[in-house]
Parts: sequence; structure tokens; C-alpha cells
Amino acid sequence: MENVRKVHPVNPDPKIIAEAAELLKKGGTVAFPTETVYGLGANAMDDEACRRIFSVKGRQQDNPIIIHINDFDQLDQISYGISTSIREKLEVIWPGPLTVVLKKRNIGSIPTAGLDTVAVRMPAHRVPQEMIKSSKLPIAAPSANKSGSPSPVFASEVLEDLGSKVDLILDGGPAYFGIESTVIMFNGDEIIILRPGAFSAEDISNIFAMKVRVSGESSDAPISPGMKYRHYAPVKELILGKSEDAIIKFCEENDVLFIGSSELARKINSDSIVLGSRRDLYEVARNLFPSFRALDKSKYSKGIIEGFDERGIGLAIMNRIRKATGGRSIT
Ligand code: TXA
Ligand code: MG
Repeated sequence: MENVRKVHPVNPDPKIIAEAAELLKKGGTVAFPTETVYGLGANAMDDEACRRIFSVKGRQQDNPIIIHINDFDQLDQISYGISTSIREKLEVIWPGPLTVVLKKRNIGSIPTAGLDTVAVRMPAHRVPQEMIKSSKLPIAAPSANKSGSPSPVFASEVLEDLGSKVDLILDGGPAYFGIESTVIMFNGDEIIILRPGAFSAEDISNIFAMKVRVSGESSDAPISPGMKYRHYAPVKELILGKSEDAIIKFCEENDVLFIGSSELARKINSDSIVLGSRRDLYEVARNLFPSFRALDKSKYSKGIIEGFDERGIGLAIMNRIRKATGGRSIT
């Protein structure tokens, strides 16, 4: 495809970066790898460019977009109101897969969906870092999937979902974590996790030394606008199996694709997609969204997926599995 360029993930060719930066400055859209998933970027300071992100993805207008920055001057350009102690913690964490919701400044109503807040993150991936440096622009970028689909881990998935509607797709190989950033907001003396992600709740709690609550655990918790939509889901039916015995029995009685750990796949005769070992949840995370796409491409009309330990990145894995299964489970 003529809109795809291969780019080295660690040492990207400055000519390709300059081409991407020029497109962004002119109001175009560029898809690029990050350490979490692929993003679909546009100039965050240009409402018209941001509008194109919504139309390319088919995204609802009321779902705000994360803004990607590369230094703390850009943080001050687009937000205000964080305390010195929180800033010091962010200097330790960033760049990395943590997104913080702050009071917005100088940023239009399109990327922020009319809210008075802005979600900001500093990605730990050389391709967006160099694009931001070269263009000198903060980049608004949601995940580069068609709205409702699983986030893309590979450039080929971006191409499959968005094709020639994107001006340029930078193919830097697989995204590293395969699951999106953790989105948090500060609420007095507590931190609310609006979306569990690649940065663990345990690390947030340790680094900030504040109480951490996951949104949705109590009814008064604010929800990230995007979390109300059907998300991360295969088109085909996916069921969560809550015990090994239930999954084994279900696979014996149904023509179904099993998705889960190598440990359980060994005990099952059905066709399987192995996500990885239960002892390596990072491997499971990387294979999760591609497995949803593989289910849709398979001959099976439904899949059954195993649950995982909710510690560390497991919290995000289970959040995505629950969304993908839409509450369907067997015990
Ligand atoms: O890892 C990631 O975060 C990827 C890469 C590309 O950076 N981006 C990503 O963006 O997942 P997106 O748009 O797919 O998800 C952004 C989430 C949505 O749930 C959205 O509602 C929430 O962040 N969000 C954005 N701005 C917000 C705000 N001002 N207040 C609360 N939630 C916000
Ligand atoms: Mg998304």
C-alpha cells in the first residue's frame, strides 16, 4: 500500500519522521506505533485536523482523545493545576504508559469533546517521540482501530481497519504491551483509575503513595467517557469461562474456539489460540487483541476465553475480556 512506510522502532529514519511531521503540520492524519498500541494521530492544536480522526475511525464525537507530548513544556502548554509533588512523580514515570486527566489549557473543544479537562501522556516509543520533536506539536491520538474494534497491535491491523482513509501509516513492528495506557485522574487525596491499562494499579499506588480506586467500583465514581461504548470486542460471540472444568466441558459439547493459557490449552482437544503462560501476563496481554481478530477470521461462530489473575497488568487484561464478552460467562 502506498500510504504505509516501514520505520525502525528504535532508530527511525529522520526522512520518514520529517514526512510524518509535515503531514501533521498540514492537518493530516498519521498512524504510528507506541509502547501500548498503534495510535491515529493529528495536530492536537488544530480542531479541523482532530475532526478527521473522528471521521476516519467512525468515533463518537463525545469521546475525548488522548494528547501525546514529549516534554514538560508541552504539558504546561496544554494543561495546568498539578501540584509540585505530582509533577515530580510524573517526571519519574514518564515517558510511559500512564495517561493523566488534567485541567485543560489552549486546547480546542474537538479533541477534548467539550470537556474542561485533557488526557495527556508521554509515550515511551521513539517513533512518536521523534514525530513530536520534529513537528513541535502535541499529537492527539486515539487507538488506530475502527471504532468498536480491538486496538491494533500491528500496522497490518491498522491497514485492515482504516486503509487509505489515513494519510500515512508508519509500520514500526508490533506495539510493545499490546494493551492501552492506564488512564487516571486525581480527586483530592485519591487517584481514580478511569481505565485500567499497561501501567499497573500497584505501581501507581506505590509511586504516588495515595489511595487508588478503580472507577466503577462504586456508583459515584466518574467514568471515562470512552468506557461506556462497546469496545475491544470481536464481532463473534465470546464467552468467559470461569473455571477449568466448565471450559473443558463446554469445549467437549460445543464447536467452539478456545482462547487462553498454554497450561489449559494442553488439557483441551478443541482448536486453541494460546495467549501465553499464566505465569507471563505480559505475553498474554500482547496476544489478547490479536486473538479477538483471529476469532473473527476463524471458521468458528463463537469462542470461549479463560480468565486470568487480576494482579499487575492482569487487571487490564480482565477489564478488556469482560468488555469483549459483554458479560456472557459460564461457571
Ligand atoms: O495507550 C493508549 O492510551 C493509546 C495510545 C495510542 O496512546 N490511546 C488510546 O486512546 O487508547 P483511546 O482514545 O482509544 O482511549 C482514550 C481513553 C478513552 O476511554 C477516553 O474516553 C479517555 O481516554 N479520555 C480521554 N480524554 C479524557 C478526559 N478528558 N477525561 C476522561 N477520560 C478521557
Ligand atoms: Mg480506543
